[in-house]
Amino acid sequence: MSDLKKIKDNFFSKLNQNLGLSEINQIKSDLFGKNGLISSQFKKIGSINESERKKFASELNILKDELQDLIDSKINDIKKDEINRKLEKEKIDVTLPERSFVRGKIHPVSQTIDEISAIFSEIGFSIEEGPDIENEYNNFTALNTPDNHPARDMHDTFYLDKKKEKLLRTHTSPVQIRTMLKDNPPFKIIAPGRTYRSDSDQTHSPMFHQVEGLHIDKNINMGDLKGCLNYFIKEFFEVEKIKMRFRPSHFPFTEPSAEVDIGYEIKDGKIVIGEGDKWLEILGCGMVHPKVLKNVNVDPLKYQGYAFGIGIDRLAMLKYGINDLRSFFECDYRWLSHFGFDPLDVPTNYRGLSR
Ligand code: DAH
Repeated sequence: MSDLKKIKDNFFSKLNQNLGLSEINQIKSDLFGKNGLISSQFKKIGSINESERKKFASELNILKDELQDLIDSKINDIKKDEINRKLEKEKIDVTLPERSFVRGKIHPVSQTIDEISAIFSEIGFSIEEGPDIENEYNNFTALNTPDNHPARDMHDTFYLDKKKEKLLRTHTSPVQIRTMLKDNPPFKIIAPGRTYRSDSDQTHSPMFHQVEGLHIDKNINMGDLKGCLNYFIKEFFEVEKIKMRFRPSHFPFTEPSAEVDIGYEIKDGKIVIGEGDKWLEILGCGMVHPKVLKNVNVDPLKYQGYAFGIGIDRLAMLKYGINDLRSFFECDYRWLSHFGFDPLDVPTNYRGLSR
């Protein structure tokens, strides 16, 4: 039997057994590798005598093609089988119930900040932001807060260095300073954000939120302040009428200063804002002190105006019936699912305060 016939018989019967991919690849290299059987036969061609060479070469080429085709088709079959097996196993069961999908909620404080920002931006206030880490000058000195003021005490303020130059801002009022230093009057801004004091109990958290307001122009008086706050409170609590009173107070950065209370009553265990004979303090305000204006190079004889600082968390608690301030900051997912807001409930006319 000729060599070619032997190779043919031997490998055809081998290839027709049930082989795996690695065995077929092995056969492929046994035949066509550098020293494979077929490759060796090709090398032999030159030494065959002329009369037989042509015939041998043509038989060898035919055999080579046959073996190659057989190997290719076997490899193809194995790959197809594999794909079919996978498809069989990974069949999608369209009758299975869908996976549950949970949409995140907007925290009530974020929602409240957006609502406040929307209301003020409708009456011409723009939004400013300042950093949580402030310097002593912006937080106290420029705001006319004397060295011996209790707010400067270690017990009230988180200082970040021994020299007491850097601190976590104790209020949003330093944004007034930043705003007035970087621009020329008039100013009409609000500045919502985080504030910090060394305080913690049921109604105080070491981190809380305020919104600062500042309106400086040539003809701004306390009547404007009253009108602005009255409008805001009615809009925020969505009531037609609001009982509001200004109580004389003291802040170093305003003269005169006032605290504002709103009227409320308890009806069926629920707090109703705007009526009743009980009073609730919600903000501090006043006419910006001439010394503050001088500190930021604004001439107090030409420009005056008002400022206010509102506790955001307190407003959110009142509006949404949340009675423990600490729950805002405990990051309890169940609490957030209950009190949080759908992302689409955010007022559309104001968006985008960085959080
Ligand atoms: N910064 C004050 C505080 O945190 C609140 C405040 C009062 C802000 C009067 C003002 C203001 O702008 O005019 O207690």
